[in-house]
Amino acid sequence: MDFKELLKERRSVRKYIETVIPVEDVEAILEDTRMAPSWKNNQESRYYIALSNEMIEKVYDALPAFNQKSTENAAYVVATYVKGLSGFSNGVPVDDLGDKWGVYDAGLHNAYFILSARDRGYDTLIMGLRDEKKLREIFSIPEEEEILSVIALGKREGEVRLNRRKELPEFSEIG
Ligand SMILES: Cc1cc2nc3c(=O)[nH]c(=O)nc-3n(C[C@H](O)[C@H](O)[C@H](O)COP(=O)(O)O)c2cc1C
Repeated sequence: MDFKELLKERRSVRKYIETVIPVEDVEAILEDTRMAPSWKNNQESRYYIALSNEMIEKVYDALPAFNQKSTENAAYVVATYVKGLSGFSNGVPVDDLGDKWGVYDAGLHNAYFILSARDRGYDTLIMGLRDEKKLREIFSIPEEEEILSVIALGKREGEVRLNRRKELPEFSEIG
């Protein structure tokens, strides 16, 4: 897909049709995702994928009701990152941001993920509201990792409109 079209087409989707997602498609999206840049090439983002009905139900249970409702029929991806790597040198934060650099890297990886998904005919919804404890238990996620979002993955039902975007001067300054 043309890149500009891809940017326009990628929207947060809150209504999904019933689909079976082949594991190969998820792997292809992850292959694209690993091309994202990261601090010193740490590549500390991690992904836990719920693709079977059993795992999907468990992750569904770790979401608040409104996010459950938005993601019926979708699979789930739990995005984490390994703490204490990006922004650190010999275990010591190199600046005031510390572990926020890990979140920065993970955001980049997640951006690649959602764009690749769209490019491959899938839709996504990033959800910051989730039960961190339940997710950690479901996938036995180690304490070294910080759990960020749950990303729904599926195929959209119907049209999705573009939310208003800020005009350039509202978020940028060119000198
Ligand atoms: C970090 C993050 C957390 C979000 N959490 C939620 C959420 O819990 N539930 C939800 O419906 N949308 C959530 N969203 C989706 C945003 O509302 C959405 O990206 C924004 O309104 C822009 O719309 P668009 O993605 O269609 O361009 C989240 C997005 C991000 C990046």
